[in-house]
Amino acid sequence: MFVQTRKSFNMKKKFIIILLIILISFFGWRFIRPMNIFIVDDRFAWPIDTSQTPEVLSDLSAESCAVCHQDFYNEWQTTIHSQAWTDPYFQTDWQFDDAQHSCRLCHTPLDRQQPDKVLSYRDTDKWDPVIENNPDFDSKLQHEGVTCAACHYRDGKILGVFGNTNTPHEVQKIEDPNQVCVRCHIVEGERWDTFFRFPPCGTVAEIKSTLAAEKDPLQKDVITTGKSGEVSASNTRTLGCVGCHMPLLKRPLVEGGAIRDTRQHLWRGGHDPEMVKKALTVEFTEVVNSWGNRKFRLILTNTGAAHYVPTGTPDRHLTVRLRLLDEQGRVLEEQSHTIKRTVMWRPFILDLWDTRLPRWQPRKYDIQVPDDSTAVKVEAVIRYHLLDEKRRKRIAYVNKTPIDYEIFNKQIMLRTIGNN
Ligand code: HEC
Ligand code: HEC
Ligand code: HEC
Ligand code: HEC
Ligand code: HEC
Repeated sequence: MFVQTRKSFNMKKKFIIILLIILISFFGWRFIRPMNIFIVDDRFAWPIDTSQTPEVLSDLSAESCAVCHQDFYNEWQTTIHSQAWTDPYFQTDWQFDDAQHSCRLCHTPLDRQQPDKVLSYRDTDKWDPVIENNPDFDSKLQHEGVTCAACHYRDGKILGVFGNTNTPHEVQKIEDPNQVCVRCHIVEGERWDTFFRFPPCGTVAEIKSTLAAEKDPLQKDVITTGKSGEVSASNTRTLGCVGCHMPLLKRPLVEGGAIRDTRQHLWRGGHDPEMVKKALTVEFTEVVNSWGNRKFRLILTNTGAAHYVPTGTPDRHLTVRLRLLDEQGRVLEEQSHTIKRTVMWRPFILDLWDTRLPRWQPRKYDIQVPDDSTAVKVEAVIRYHLLDEKRRKRIAYVNKTPIDYEIFNKQIMLRTIGNN
């Protein structure tokens, strides 16, 4: 009898130990495995085939388009698209992430921009490609990142919105210019171990959810990407990317050509303080408060972007600082707020909270001045951050350009000078 229970007790103990070992190894693996935060879907899994390039497009470089389209080239050169490969932040982050192949697919999407050919994939998430040396690799073209051909070249033809121009290269008309953007600006993330509210860089999903919240009658048209990743014009039209990121300008496409409605190739975003300012309406004023302390309110509204602000990589964030200062500039009181999407990456990927600004939804922050305060002014400062200092240090990114900048600064005097 006694021996029996002892035996079963030992069995149980063994069972628990085995279970613990399994659990510990499982979580251990979750903590060291490569993160693979998105799924490489068919939309961008295969480098763009340039084998049929006609002679007039020569090496497909931006310079070769510039021979005829100089203005477009000049604009493109000022953008982060032209630096999608050379961008030192990208380079550092990429090396830190074990220089994974999949990153090349959007940052250098043409086959000739990649030192290896992708033959197939070993895994369903497509993070593990079977590759072979690429004899056509062109390292100069690689350095052009998201070059003209990345958006414009398909199967020997140039994609364009007119389709009735007289061109030395064949043109294929596209119904909606936003179709071009979704190849790279949608990064899906659904997998058994991810619990994203939005895909990792959720720009398109954010627009979709905002339109749904606004009960926009057009929202039913907004993009749905199937597993195969194909997208049609009917569901990119409401995204509006080109309308906001490529301002309209009447000019010829080529020197001496007919004047047409063209789009400036500017794509401003987080790297441009003026663009970020355009996204926000900021008010900082005293709130009428007939009883009690004086109160000041900062109201921050995303009135200029259809997606959240900030959008894109979850590194991007805004900080808000409200302060009371005395005559000597000493800080009597300080409040800080961070407007950011916070994701838990390990052991599972889980959206924890998201304090970013959806379109049209005002965000309020109040600061009170106590009756007996020696404060002479109240101050509000808003800064935009491309990434935070902690992450910069972690990946050892030595920035030559600032990683954050001020987009709003206002001080309100509590007393008018000379008014005793
Ligand atoms: C030898 C000169 C030449 C070169 C090189 C050239 N283009 Fe063109 N392209 C033209 C001309 C001419 C037009 C038509 C202009 C017009 O009718 O207003 C045109 C039209 C276009 C259009 C609009 C087509 C439409 O109908 O919507 C696009 C887009 C375009 N080019 C992109 C490019 C890109 C990208 C490259 C480089 C890969 C390139 N072009 C290289 C001469 C050139
Ligand atoms: C071939 C892939 C690709 C396509 C197509 C593409 N983009 Fe991008 N885009 C990128 C990458 C990669 C970056 C980030 C580059 C970096 O910061 O290193 C980027 C960055 C941006 C930025 C951020 C600028 C900044 O200052 O941070 C904007 C805005 C943008 N793209 C808009 C667009 C729009 C609008 C379209 C469609 C007309 C488009 N993109 C098409 C790959 C692409
Ligand atoms: C990120 C994607 C992207 C890149 C990179 C890009 N273009 Fe475009 N381009 C577009 C889109 C989208 C349109 C259509 C805009 C519209 O609706 O008129 C366009 C239109 C054009 C047109 C026709 C005029 C017009 O505005 O419609 C020309 C010419 C052109 N691009 C040339 C170039 C050249 C040259 C380069 C490289 C120096 C380049 N593009 C790089 C997306 C891109
Ligand atoms: C109503 C105007 C509007 C529309 C529509 C819009 N954007 Fe933006 N976008 C902005 C403004 C303003 C900013 C600057 C604020 C910011 O960076 O968050 C911005 C910023 C961005 C950035 C910069 C993020 C970063 O990491 O630096 C990207 C990328 C971007 N937009 C892509 C897109 C794409 C792709 C679409 C279409 C699917 C789109 N936007 C539609 C106005 C718009
Ligand atoms: C599906 C296309 C796609 C793939 C694949 C991709 N990126 Fe990007 N990446 C983008 C786009 C679009 C942006 C700019 C908009 C944004 O912030 O989402 C960007 C922006 C970035 C930025 C910010 C650059 C800056 O200047 O602030 C970094 C860093 C980056 N990517 C690293 C990577 C790494 C590392 C990988 C591989 C693990 C990768 N990307 C794979 C499309 C892609």
